[in-house]
Amino acid sequence: MLRIQEAVSAAQTFELMKKMLGHLVPEAELMVKSEIAFEINRLKKEKKAVILGHNYMEPALYHSIPDHVGDSLGLSRISASTDAERIVFCGVRFMAETAKILNPGKMVLLPARVAGCSLASSITAEDVRRIKKAYPGVPVVTYINTYADVKAETDVCCTSSNAVSIVNQLESDTVICLPDEFLARNVARETGKRVLFPGDMIRNGEPSMVVWNGKCEVHEKFTVGDITAARAQFPDTVVVAHPECPPEVVEASDYSGSTTAMVDFVKHSDAKRFLLLTECSMSDNIAAENPGKEMLGMCSIRCPHMNEITLEDTLECLREDKYQIEIDEDIRVKAKKSLDRMLEMSA
Ligand code: 13P
Ligand code: SF4
Repeated sequence: MLRIQEAVSAAQTFELMKKMLGHLVPEAELMVKSEIAFEINRLKKEKKAVILGHNYMEPALYHSIPDHVGDSLGLSRISASTDAERIVFCGVRFMAETAKILNPGKMVLLPARVAGCSLASSITAEDVRRIKKAYPGVPVVTYINTYADVKAETDVCCTSSNAVSIVNQLESDTVICLPDEFLARNVARETGKRVLFPGDMIRNGEPSMVVWNGKCEVHEKFTVGDITAARAQFPDTVVVAHPECPPEVVEASDYSGSTTAMVDFVKHSDAKRFLLLTECSMSDNIAAENPGKEMLGMCSIRCPHMNEITLEDTLECLREDKYQIEIDEDIRVKAKKSLDRMLEMSA
């Protein structure tokens, strides 16, 4: 089937979008969005741009303009190796920064001025320096949901898809894992480590993980009660949770993994009904691609930062080359080491 990105006219873009999204998005909206999507796809060829879309992008954008979609790890790999002149990142700032760190010769564009993340803003480089001073020699693993200056203080980055494997590969029983407390607690459980907070003493011979108290403002809101209620209403529901959810929520779920792992899990499962504990656009994106499966998204819980990225702003971003990501070269070089190490360790 022809991809929407390859349509030769706005009318064909509309027909293809209607086929894919007609059961989710009203036709009148698809009419407007297909015109914008067609213009973006035309302009991106002219400007030799590649568009990367995180799995949380809204359905009309997600299915119509990205050349590649995926989770943080997948999109980092693509950013590192693309030969396009421009990388337009339909995601949040730390993702676009990661692309610039890995591929500094390219112009990296974010379609929104801010597009933050509550995890990335929960910790500063100075915080990391203080923790390192308190635990000399202990390796620092930092979630990719951080800004460049924090990555620059780090030994190795991780994402939700490789955090357990990276912690297991380190030759140290004790690690510092920042800044997502819940991701770290979930990883500590899987790797058999006791959770400590900065200031706590490491007990001799006891594998430990020093964590920070950052939280994802979306995933922290899901509760075990949400799971119990969904299962009471629909007993055949399979519950899929992102590892940024609280540990008791992950434990009560049937499966936990990165956003791409969640997409693949639903695709390959024989079940017919799923509750996705993550940003609700992803439920719509999966529903569009799996018409026989029902997604119970909890859409009162949204990521305002991911939702800053719209088709309208992506068109303006391409037209005007804004907003360009710039990173101090000294910080970029240090941050790249921790990202390169992560990519080597998750080859
Ligand atoms: P993934 O790497 O699993 O896509 O997660 C990114 C994110 O921000 C989830 O909230
Ligand atoms: Fe950050 Fe949470 Fe939004 Fe992901 S969902 S970008 S972790 S605030």
